[in-house]
Amino acid sequence: MDLTLSVVGCGYLGATHAACMSSLGFSVIGVDTDPDKVAMLSRGELPFYEPGLDTLLAQEIKTGRLTFTTDFSAVADADVHFVCVGTPQSKDGLAADLTYVKAAVAEIAPYLKEGALVVGKSTVPVGTAQSLRQELAQSAPQADLAWNPEFLREGFAVEDTLTPNRLVVGVANDRAEEILKRVYEPVIALGTPWIRADLPTAELVKVAANSFLATKISFINAMAEVCEAAGGDVTVLAKAIGYDPRIGNRFLQAGIGFGGGCLPKDIRAFMARAEELGAKQALEFLREIDAINLRARQRVIDVVRSELSEDLTQYKIAVLGATFKPDSDDVRDSPALDIAAQLQAAGATVVVHDPKGIEPARKRFPNLQYSENVAECIKAADLILHLTEWREYRELDPSLLGPLVKNKIIIDGRNALDRDLWRNAGWKFHALGRTD
Ligand code: UDX
Repeated sequence: MDLTLSVVGCGYLGATHAACMSSLGFSVIGVDTDPDKVAMLSRGELPFYEPGLDTLLAQEIKTGRLTFTTDFSAVADADVHFVCVGTPQSKDGLAADLTYVKAAVAEIAPYLKEGALVVGKSTVPVGTAQSLRQELAQSAPQADLAWNPEFLREGFAVEDTLTPNRLVVGVANDRAEEILKRVYEPVIALGTPWIRADLPTAELVKVAANSFLATKISFINAMAEVCEAAGGDVTVLAKAIGYDPRIGNRFLQAGIGFGGGCLPKDIRAFMARAEELGAKQALEFLREIDAINLRARQRVIDVVRSELSEDLTQYKIAVLGATFKPDSDDVRDSPALDIAAQLQAAGATVVVHDPKGIEPARKRFPNLQYSENVAECIKAADLILHLTEWREYRELDPSLLGPLVKNKIIIDGRNALDRDLWRNAGWKFHALGRTD
């Protein structure tokens, strides 16, 4: 490949992008300010869990095409610079914190060569790209800036990068589009739809997509609340409406709701930005989406109290699942951990199990108890909460678990377990949105 790439910010998104671009044949230099992360990545070791990425990273490091450094001057040879740093929720409000994006662009600006293209991939409030492009026109007039949002899902990061369902590029001119077409040529050759947009539209596509997904989940969780009130079954309802191709059956899994590093903070940042733009009313519904989502966590706690007692101090609760979704070790804004922490704060003894997320969970909630083993976790428990739908929990044999617990009560917070199987083994089985 005749282009050299840099990736600035080697977290979840950046490490994935760097390894995937290297696998397409590009020379890639990854830059991150965290020396420990850089050291690990340079050894071909992934600082987080992502299926398939560990092997890909190790393989690409061996080729010599992929290197990592903390030294920003190393980007000087690159033609295209992907900015992949985080945009977390700010500490004092709903808006996104743009410190890292601004710092990343400022750090590389002195090293940009003639004709270099800076490509933002981070999720940013609409208008950010335009203002960064203006700043760059002052600090590095020889360079240009484009925006290329990513849509990768944790657990499918490699697949979503190398075979995405679309490529969206926000550009201010034909040249920027042509450069990006050269980068993504092998992906485009697979028939991937290519969408050219202006800078603000490209930024908006990302937050609009995440808002829609969040809305779908909160919609089905609102239906779950109504089903509980009316004596219905949300899983049957979801299946039935999902057959309508206009609705579709994906993202209609009712339960304890969405978490993670994207959906919650993106809808909040979108509301904050809309307000700044004078379009507050247009996104008022997202406030309700957020509220429905947080209510789902409370509903689980209500079921626990009604099963055990208002006063939880004498009870042991076993929590299966800490991560915000399966096949990830990410516990950022995890509904499962939030519920576990709230129950502990209410006085219960809470023991958490997770196949991959115990260490990251312990860092966030050091006061919760953790167990590496399901049998030990549920030992003498008064109640089990199933909060992240890992495959290994679906494969549990409830008849073998029965003798280990104090009470055979399980609440399925993800509507993912086989209710009949558990009931036939003598368990009292609750699921959100199912009254039977
Ligand atoms: C999301 C978007 O899907 C992705 O396109 C974007 O780039 C980043 O944000 P991710 O955060 O990896 O990806 O998770 P996703 O698979 O979307 O799930 C988000 C949350 O919603 C999880 O907590 C999951 O458990 C929950 N969820 C998902 C439901 O509660 N019900 C569903 O039907 C689907």
